[in-house]
Amino acid sequence: MANLSLNKAKEILLNGNVLAIPTETVYGLAGWIYSEEGLKKIFSTKERPFFDPLIVHIDSIEKAKKLTTHWTEVHGVLAKACWPGPLTLIAKKSELVHPLITSGLDSVGLRCPNHPLTLELLSQIEGGLAAPSANKFGKTSPTTSKHVLQEFGEAVEVLEGGACEVGIESTVAGVELMNGQWKVLIFRPGYFSAQKLQQILNMAGLVVDVQYAESPVAPGQLKHHYMPQIPLIIIPENATWSSVKESIESKLKSTFQNPADWILPQDPLWAARELYQKLRDFSEHGHDLILIHRNSSEISEEWKGIWNRLDKAKTLELTDNFNWVE
Ligand code: TXA
Ligand code: MG
Repeated sequence: MANLSLNKAKEILLNGNVLAIPTETVYGLAGWIYSEEGLKKIFSTKERPFFDPLIVHIDSIEKAKKLTTHWTEVHGVLAKACWPGPLTLIAKKSELVHPLITSGLDSVGLRCPNHPLTLELLSQIEGGLAAPSANKFGKTSPTTSKHVLQEFGEAVEVLEGGACEVGIESTVAGVELMNGQWKVLIFRPGYFSAQKLQQILNMAGLVVDVQYAESPVAPGQLKHHYMPQIPLIIIPENATWSSVKESIESKLKSTFQNPADWILPQDPLWAARELYQKLRDFSEHGHDLILIHRNSSEISEEWKGIWNRLDKAKTLELTDNFNWVE
């Protein structure tokens, strides 16, 4: 496939079509926010239900501000410190934001991605681009243009931008005022941890409590997501295939000949970067099952995003005392 020029990319989007764009996290399936046709095509191409809101990508704080009626000091400090970068900020939407984008909610997710090509494209587009990850709904997100091709075939044009460096989706954070006190709630963990956001806000002299949302209050945060083509089973840290084989086969009522036993890289940045590529590789390379070990030392905040994805991508988990959890 020939590389797409930015002019052609722009034309595709402004004509109401979808286009896969590179970001530092994962590839997005973009549609122009002012084209209802383009927005509808995002949902139909992904087979995504309309209850799952899209996030809007912009290349500047100025553009973000136009899409919200409540850009608070907290939004300002976080955007200034983290953008362009893997942080999506939820803010009350302005009337410029189509209800299809927000699934009828009164808030919108705003993100300035850190990828030079996409930033250049965004700078040439009025408003912004709505873009969920460029995969079929519920499946593993793409971190290369080849993955996008595997998901949609030639039906979707791709702006080639190399492999994504972060590898898992952005941190999604909302800002709330509770009893006169600002609070930041993380709906989806990612590269920017609660601790990091807390630090940024404190440095700016703001007293804000940053926490992870307990329950998946964000629409679209379903129990199962990011699922690979073959079953993924989380097993205890020191378990071996022979020690878990019988339990897994009787639970899944199937036999497995070629399990992939993946030891997560020790560095969480590497683990995140490799995660989705690995999940795809295993099924492509003829494995019929993926085993990942729950590592008790991997509970630090830097691992939160990775385990959040694995917990949603898993078929089942076998605990230390050999109980099953879904
Ligand atoms: O890194 C990323 O964020 C990637 C790249 C392409 O930018 N995009 C991405 O989009 O992961 P998506 O649609 O797969 O996930 C965005 C999530 C939604 O599933 C939803 O849970 C949350 O962001 N979200 C969007 N709008 C929201 C809102 N108004 N309130 C709460 N959560 C929202
Ligand atoms: Mg997604």
